[in-house]
Amino acid sequence: MNDSNRIRPRRLRRSQALRDMVSETRVHADQLIMPHFVLGEDGQQESIESMPGIDRMGPDRLLRQVEADRELGIRSVLLFGLTGDSTKDSHGTASKDPTGAGPRAIALLKKEFGDDLLVITDVCLCPFTDHGHCGPLENGQPDNDATLPLLGEMARVHADAGADFVAPSDMMDHRVAAIRDALDQSGHAGVGILSYSVKFASAYYGPFRDAASSSPQEGNRAGYQMDLRNGREAEREALLDEAEGADMLMVKPALAYLDVIRRVREVSRLPLAAYNVSGEYSAVKAAAERGWLEESLVVRENLTAMARAGADLLITYHARDALREGWL
Ligand code: PBG
Ligand code: ZN
Repeated sequence: MNDSNRIRPRRLRRSQALRDMVSETRVHADQLIMPHFVLGEDGQQESIESMPGIDRMGPDRLLRQVEADRELGIRSVLLFGLTGDSTKDSHGTASKDPTGAGPRAIALLKKEFGDDLLVITDVCLCPFTDHGHCGPLENGQPDNDATLPLLGEMARVHADAGADFVAPSDMMDHRVAAIRDALDQSGHAGVGILSYSVKFASAYYGPFRDAASSSPQEGNRAGYQMDLRNGREAEREALLDEAEGADMLMVKPALAYLDVIRRVREVSRLPLAAYNVSGEYSAVKAAAERGWLEESLVVRENLTAMARAGADLLITYHARDALREGWL
């Protein structure tokens, strides 16, 4: 036995109680945000083939689902309002329809739950454009500065309906500033912005694009979403959004980008969200269905890893299952 043998890290791992006491990372229901896809008609409910366990729902069904989720401890939601193909156009005009699925759901949820539910809404044009890109096109790519006022209007409509936070996911330059101004000028200085600051062009969004029918008809989003090889640029995007007035930041996707979560955590003091995206969810679900992975343990491991990397908030389709089944 030499001196170093007196030091035994395993002493801290001897029992569950001890491990729980010294654990450095804890995931709590208060950190979880449940995403929802909202349809326009009451009574509507549709399963999503590539996202088992997640349904698109009309506002009334959503209300009941959110009520049940609240019983489990989920106190915040991220809403994606959808629209039918016949209402889509080049500029995503339906995105600012106050009678659309999103605004109706926002109003219904806030009327029912008030401040007992935090309603965050995705702000992006891609579910509303006929070409599927996140802004009106110029030479096949979204025109950055033409997109900004449209995002501002969409955010204002959500705020008018009662949204607590808007979450722009388009990756246009200066959109946080444009949305902040639009909100402030319409009497919504108290409505916050959770910016998808660091959003990578990722193949993990595949199931979401099925769910929201928001795939680009031509081309891809590499001209506006971030290149997955870049970490320094992630810090730059995060700091720009903070300077433009974002209240909270986000890194998306989460699992292949834990290093980026850590880097953003270290350069900003704002609350930081990790978005555990559709493809990350579906991959776990598919493997679990085949019996190849133990879902409960994998979900716990994934969510804990995001928190350990530095995320304060976890946006995840697993939220309901994790709380109902006690996986955390
Ligand atoms: C819309 C948007 C996307 C996601 C959130 N908002 C898709 C995309 O950018 O193509 C992805 C969410 C997920 O995969 O769960 N811009
Ligand atoms: Zn988009």
